[in-house]
Amino acid sequence: MLDILRKRRSIRKYQERPIEPEKIETLKEGLLRSPSAKNLKSWEFVFVENPETIKKLAQVRGASSSFLAGAPLAIVVMGNEQTTNVWVEDASLAAMIGQLVATSIGLGSCWIQIRNRDHSPELSAEDYVRNLLGIPEPYRVLCILAVGYPAEEKKPIPKGELPYNKIHLEKF
Ligand SMILES: Cc1cc2nc3c(=O)[nH]c(=O)nc-3n(C[C@H](O)[C@H](O)[C@H](O)COP(=O)(O)O)c2cc1C
Repeated sequence: MLDILRKRRSIRKYQERPIEPEKIETLKEGLLRSPSAKNLKSWEFVFVENPETIKKLAQVRGASSSFLAGAPLAIVVMGNEQTTNVWVEDASLAAMIGQLVATSIGLGSCWIQIRNRDHSPELSAEDYVRNLLGIPEPYRVLCILAVGYPAEEKKPIPKGELPYNKIHLEKF
């Protein structure tokens, strides 16, 4: 596990190589094994492989999302806010599990924040994605994971550079 955690870095450049169907299947299984509050499974996912749709999704947040255009796969991570008031936690855990599974099978990924972000002064990032993919209420969009074979190398952060000051012993 620590090996996967060391390897996981945000990858924003991808090879043109497509992701094999077996690996897409592994990602799906991993996501669906995510825990959820009261086991209500409030999360939902849209897997997008259509390059034209991916290019449109990449325009959701300007420079913060433009790199998605080069990815062979976008996973849109959503939650049902009517199912639970902790859908954000459920969906965040699933997104992170998706990123760790991606790392474990040689793929790179990056989280693109959608919730509480804007597409333009008139349109939220969430409504932009909602309109593009036909996502109905009460589903909320948390983030998009850009996934693909890495075309950039990022080294693990050396252990000595980790912020151990954030770990408090016995009391804050
Ligand atoms: C909640 C959250 C939102 C993020 N949003 C974006 C984003 O919109 N665009 C982006 O390029 N990276 C985004 N990231 C990736 C972070 O920038 C990245 O995790 C951080 O810089 C640490 O780098 P590392 O992932 O390589 O360890 C997000 C990460 C998290 C956890």
